[in-house]
Amino acid sequence: MKSNSFEKYYGITTFGESHGKVIGVVIEDVKPGIKFPLEKIQSALDKRRPGVGTFSSTRKEKDELQVLSGIFEGKTTGMPICLLIYNKDSHSQDYEHLKDLFRPGHADFSYFKKFKIYDHRGGGRASGRETISRVVASGLVENILEDINIKIYPVKIGKFEVTEIDNSFQNELSWHDKTNYENLIEYLNNIKNEGNSIGGIVEVKIKNIPTGLGDPVFEKLDANLAKATLSIGAVKGIEFGYGFELAALKGNEANDAMDKDGFFTNYHGGILGGISTGNDLIFRFVVKPTSSINITQKTVTKDNKEVEFKSHGRHDTCIIPRIIPVAMAMIKLVLADALSYQKLIAGKKLQLTDYREAINKIDEDILIAIGRRQKISKLVGKFKRENKLQIENKDREEELLAKLKQKGKLWNIDKSLVVDIWNIIISESKKRQ
Ligand SMILES: Cc1cc2nc3c(=O)[nH]c(=O)nc-3n(C[C@H](O)[C@H](O)[C@H](O)COP(=O)(O)O)c2cc1C
Repeated sequence: MKSNSFEKYYGITTFGESHGKVIGVVIEDVKPGIKFPLEKIQSALDKRRPGVGTFSSTRKEKDELQVLSGIFEGKTTGMPICLLIYNKDSHSQDYEHLKDLFRPGHADFSYFKKFKIYDHRGGGRASGRETISRVVASGLVENILEDINIKIYPVKIGKFEVTEIDNSFQNELSWHDKTNYENLIEYLNNIKNEGNSIGGIVEVKIKNIPTGLGDPVFEKLDANLAKATLSIGAVKGIEFGYGFELAALKGNEANDAMDKDGFFTNYHGGILGGISTGNDLIFRFVVKPTSSINITQKTVTKDNKEVEFKSHGRHDTCIIPRIIPVAMAMIKLVLADALSYQKLIAGKKLQLTDYREAINKIDEDILIAIGRRQKISKLVGKFKRENKLQIENKDREEELLAKLKQKGKLWNIDKSLVVDIWNIIISESKKRQ
């Protein structure tokens, strides 16, 4: 099974281990001629990087992006794009004592049981470092997302919950409640000093999402978002809209009633039947406490001997700030896919018959407009004759033509075509006045 590929409209394959030589991604099916957004990708990588906040580990990789193929003179060529990052800060000796044991909370045990061999240094493929590839890949779909606006922020960290949202309140945790921020920091510092870790709940709010994204049954938008989000290490659950709280509501409370202007409420979180309704898309996911902690715990070795283990390596007290850019990347990839499929469906409708139908409609509209113009023009002639006014007014004709030429320029209509149309209109109306 190709489990390292996210095979959708934009196929990506990620490769590399935490303490191997590189982490990278191969991206196929990117349109040619797109400006390669190097700075944007680099800045997203910098946010995901460890060592950027008080509660992050102190690993200091620079995560500098290397372009191997598919980009020429700053633009995509339409060929497979291979991007990678060298692992410079890989202190493999830090992990020597872990060679034969299973770290609690990590993927060591299950990887070993499945493959009978695994790269124990820093978690190998199960490491958070694998997510670099996803952040890199998502940089290439930005242009598809147009004005879709994605916000991701924690609503709960440990025992603290956001009660008052103030979006202007910015900090390293993306915590939008200033009323309890200082207490939260003190709480996190205490956890850090104990050598312990903590998790939380992260909310995603997506605005300006078009209706119709997602497809029935196995390509439901919520199913695809769930898979993409749950594929991120340490993410353990997800709920859409009112989520698990729907269990306590009755039908008449949970249904989003509507009138001609739209839904009154958004308990459905912007998706019904796996397809976006155009309402804000809202979901939450839970992040478990960082597995590596500086506290002694019981575990076993590969030959099933009981041992005690305490992590001495570098670790994040709370990995939510580092998960946010990864979730952003995965959501962008899913939405870009859904939008691309949606465009394909729309494109299929546009057969020659559809174009002809559209032209016929426009021709009819032109005739209707000319008919209406003639009627008004006759009334103008009648008015002028009754009031003994001059029928022809050259100044006004010139003024009108100048205005039409200006409008023509705005709508990319050739000046000579504007003049031709105008001459026909004006001579016809003079004949019939
Ligand atoms: C961006 C990111 C950074 C992470 N950093 C750490 C870390 O520093 N220490 C740690 O123990 N786990 C970290 N993890 C989590 C592990 O990758 C993951 O929890 C662990 O391998 C178990 O996987 P599971 O949650 O899928 O069962 C990180 C995950 C992500 C996505």
